[in-house]
Amino acid sequence: MARVRKAIFPVGGLGTRFLPATKAMPKEMLPVVDKPLIQYAVEEARAAGIEQLIFVTGRDKTTIEDHFDHSFELENTLETRGKTAELATLREWLPPPGDVAYTRQQAPLGLGHAVWCARDLVGNEPFAVLLADDLILSKTPCLKQMIDIYPEVRGNIVAAMEVPKAHTSRYGILSPGRDDGRLVQVRGLVEKPKPDEAPSNLAVIGRYILEPAVFDHLDKKKKGAGGEIQLTDSLIPLIGQSPFHGYRFEGQRFDCGDKIGFFEAQIAFALERADLGPAAREVVKRYS
Ligand code: G1P
Repeated sequence: MARVRKAIFPVGGLGTRFLPATKAMPKEMLPVVDKPLIQYAVEEARAAGIEQLIFVTGRDKTTIEDHFDHSFELENTLETRGKTAELATLREWLPPPGDVAYTRQQAPLGLGHAVWCARDLVGNEPFAVLLADDLILSKTPCLKQMIDIYPEVRGNIVAAMEVPKAHTSRYGILSPGRDDGRLVQVRGLVEKPKPDEAPSNLAVIGRYILEPAVFDHLDKKKKGAGGEIQLTDSLIPLIGQSPFHGYRFEGQRFDCGDKIGFFEAQIAFALERADLGPAAREVVKRYS
């Protein structure tokens, strides 16, 4: 069975919900505490054993490329000033040369189109997709949990969690079949249904392990919800062709594409940190 070695990071979105912060800066570079969202996603992928990181970028996203490269000037300055700890935090997570690939989505046509742009870089093997907006705080990184279960179930796996019924129109929603609490058989999928049309309140969260067959469907470039080429729509024809599961991951997920979700992530991640937790707790108390 093929191993999951490659991951796609769609980072071509406009980030309109975070303007003006995202006017000249990609939304994926917004920091939670002191680390950009995209770095959390990359670290999660690497902790899951991913070897090839494929970024689907867009206009004005060069800071992402710079972030995953050496900064000779900065490193040199830190070195001459003897700031070894800071230097180590810059270097320890830098992907080895050749492990990162970039391709550009020339127009923001949707998540499905972004994934399709990486088809030749992925080739004919299973791959992961990580959406940096979905930040997950967990003991075992979410993608690692999915990759650990993959040999048992194979096929396609999407991270899943229950959301309030009123929020179904923000997500891809599963029509669940057999359900053992952790793994849910996927019978159907619908992108952003209205609450009264949703088959359940079990939502797709931005972690996927997919078979390359999805590219055959993305090739058709059919527009779906919101006039965009949706990834969800190309997953539907895979159901029944091979196993397809939703995976209820362990951990807390923050919607960092939303202002309040992003704010909550700052609090949760600061409280979690050994160096900041006690002081952060004092601050939170003052406001409650
Ligand atoms: C995307 C997917 C959606 C999924 C969501 C998870 O939507 O299209 O199916 O539920 O991510 O965050 P977006 O948030 O890009 O609108």
